[in-house]
Amino acid sequence: MESATSLKSQTVQNQVRQVGINPNYWYPVSWADEIKPGKIMLVVVWQQAIAVYRDTQGQLHALEDACPHKGVALHKGKVQGCHLACRYHGWEFNGSGECVSIPYLPKEQKLPRAQVRSYPIQEKYNLIWVFPGDLKAAVTSQPPDIPEFNQPDLLMVSVSAHFQAHFSVCNENAMDVFHGFLHENLQGWFEPVLLSLQETESAVLAEYQVSYQGRMAKFLGLSERADRVTTIPIYVQYRYPHYYTFIEGISSLYLMRLPVSLTESRSFAFFFFKIRLPRWILKPITPLLQILLQRFVLLKFLAQDIEMVESEQKTYLANPQRRYVEINPAIIAVQQLIIKQYEQFVQKCCN
Ligand code: FES
Ligand SMILES: [Fe+2]
Repeated sequence: MESATSLKSQTVQNQVRQVGINPNYWYPVSWADEIKPGKIMLVVVWQQAIAVYRDTQGQLHALEDACPHKGVALHKGKVQGCHLACRYHGWEFNGSGECVSIPYLPKEQKLPRAQVRSYPIQEKYNLIWVFPGDLKAAVTSQPPDIPEFNQPDLLMVSVSAHFQAHFSVCNENAMDVFHGFLHENLQGWFEPVLLSLQETESAVLAEYQVSYQGRMAKFLGLSERADRVTTIPIYVQYRYPHYYTFIEGISSLYLMRLPVSLTESRSFAFFFFKIRLPRWILKPITPLLQILLQRFVLLKFLAQDIEMVESEQKTYLANPQRRYVEINPAIIAVQQLIIKQYEQFVQKCCN
């Protein structure tokens, strides 16, 4: 559905700061190389604590972080072969969550029926993905496609972040191209215009136009000359629950969101840049460029965004009844989609 692009005053639906997720999608929980064989990590996917472990064969498993014996957190336990043993009495669970051994139970005695919830888990693009929803839906759904991943002519930079804010506040920030003002000192973009807006069942697709100028913009291929203003279209697509943003032929960003709680969110992002250098020059300097871009460009932008997003959340919490005004229809569309996805899930699971 094509929506109007005029900047008109609309009241923000505060309800969006209280809604949950639609769990029938894959959510990223960690970089894959952060969990080595034999290690356990506690992750939280929308208020559900999950013990993710990599067994000694390298296989990943995800179990609810509560032992069915007395409720002790399973992430405090230890990996024994393919199993996870609870720290307290050593009850052992396999990757499907079945209790397969109790060390002090006489051999001839049958194991009690004690089951932990297990979650579908997979490793893709050096990320670990967990599916917190309906098991049947896990089979038909997949993490987003990232065709640029490991393409030799692109420079990939990965960045993760932590926000003390509801995921709606973070997702509005990612759709909000009108905040170039914030990044002025970092040679961010300016003169934004919303050119088109489309809404579907599961996505908000916006096309903006922005202008760039300066040496950084030239290096990143955003403008031809550092001293001239270049105006280009930028596509921002909120494909629930993650983002895909791109500038045709120049750069793209895959921003994967992990909603943790009503006041906490995380993100895992891949930036891809088409650097205009011959491959034989680019290849040896890639690790250095990745570090420089991450530390001195992307993390600086991110720090400014985190400050705004957390300030927004804090003010909301201090007075949840306060009325806010938005004029960008793309932000209202993101809010409506978040509410709709949650309501659809609630309706389906309660009927
Ligand atoms: S609480 Fe886990 S084994 Fe007893
Ligand atoms: Fe920003």
